Amino acid sequence: MADIEIPDSFPGAGDVAGKRVVVTGAGRGLGRLLAHAFSGAGARVALVARTERDLKAVAAELPGPAIVCPGDVTDAAFNEAVADAAVAEWGGLDVWISNAGISPVVSGPRGTDPALWRRVLDVNLTGAFLGARAAARVMGSGGRIICTGSVLGERPRAGLAAYCAAKAGLVGMAKALALDLAPAGVTVNVVAPGWFDSPLASAWKEDPGLAASVVDHTALRRWGGPTDLPGAYLFLASDASGFVTGSVLPVDGGYLLV
Ligand SMILES: NC(=O)c1ccc[n+]([C@@H]2O[C@H](COP(=O)([O-])OP(=O)(O)OC[C@H]3O[C@@H](n4cnc5c(N)ncnc54)[C@H](OP(=O)(O)O)[C@@H]3O)[C@@H](O)[C@H]2O)c1
Repeated sequence: MADIEIPDSFPGAGDVAGKRVVVTGAGRGLGRLLAHAFSGAGARVALVARTERDLKAVAAELPGPAIVCPGDVTDAAFNEAVADAAVAEWGGLDVWISNAGISPVVSGPRGTDPALWRRVLDVNLTGAFLGARAAARVMGSGGRIICTGSVLGERPRAGLAAYCAAKAGLVGMAKALALDLAPAGVTVNVVAPGWFDSPLASAWKEDPGLAASVVDHTALRRWGGPTDLPGAYLFLASDASGFVTGSVLPVDGGYLLV
């Protein structure tokens, strides 16, 4: 029986040089971190968030070319305009990272204003859908859609019902879209971070009790640091991950194990 034919070379697991990448939520926190990682690896990046001055500051920090796209990911027309901007600037789009998110902590269902519930779902879930929808219009075979989920989508915490629902919903959405877009050769995956020190997580980090509970429930007994997260996205964006779709990749130091 013939053994596997060994290729002359293998795609680099984080090789994104030359790729054209949208990063939403790129004005600070994890999105800014991802913009740095992709730009440093030779990708061209389109930076999305509502606050233009943040995006300009991030663009100025990056080692490579970036375009700044200020707007709200809950606006369908805005997402389409970002896809159009990538095509106008670069002639196409290879990777869309839906990372914009909000996570207000509330005091249970009675403390959750219905408008707040809707907004959290809108930004974290509908925003990712609208991004994927826009990306699917302009991406060719080999395209990559990556959504930032959360371990809280699988293991909820009190006070975060809307956020947990949105992040759990993201998993179902990504799996269904993976089926929808497989014929076009586009993959759809979720990265589920554990606990990372960003502006969004600062309330937890600054509360000694909560911060300690995060460490207690993380197998590696620490918060995630800046070099811990981007590798998962770089892998899922690279040619090495062409057979990975509909997956959820926790980057959580073992939070879901404890
Ligand atoms: N930090 C963690 O430990 C952690 C863990 C698991 C998952 N996550 C997820 O990781 C993602 C990034 O979180 P982070 O910690 O980096 O949060 P962050 O520091 O608060 O940054 C969020 C980014 O999203 C942007 N954004 C918020 N609402 C938006 C909207 N409607 N339209 C466009 N951009 C919007 C913000 O900019 P503007 O306000 O200017 O729009 C900002 O650039 C989120 O999806 C979050 O749920 C974070």
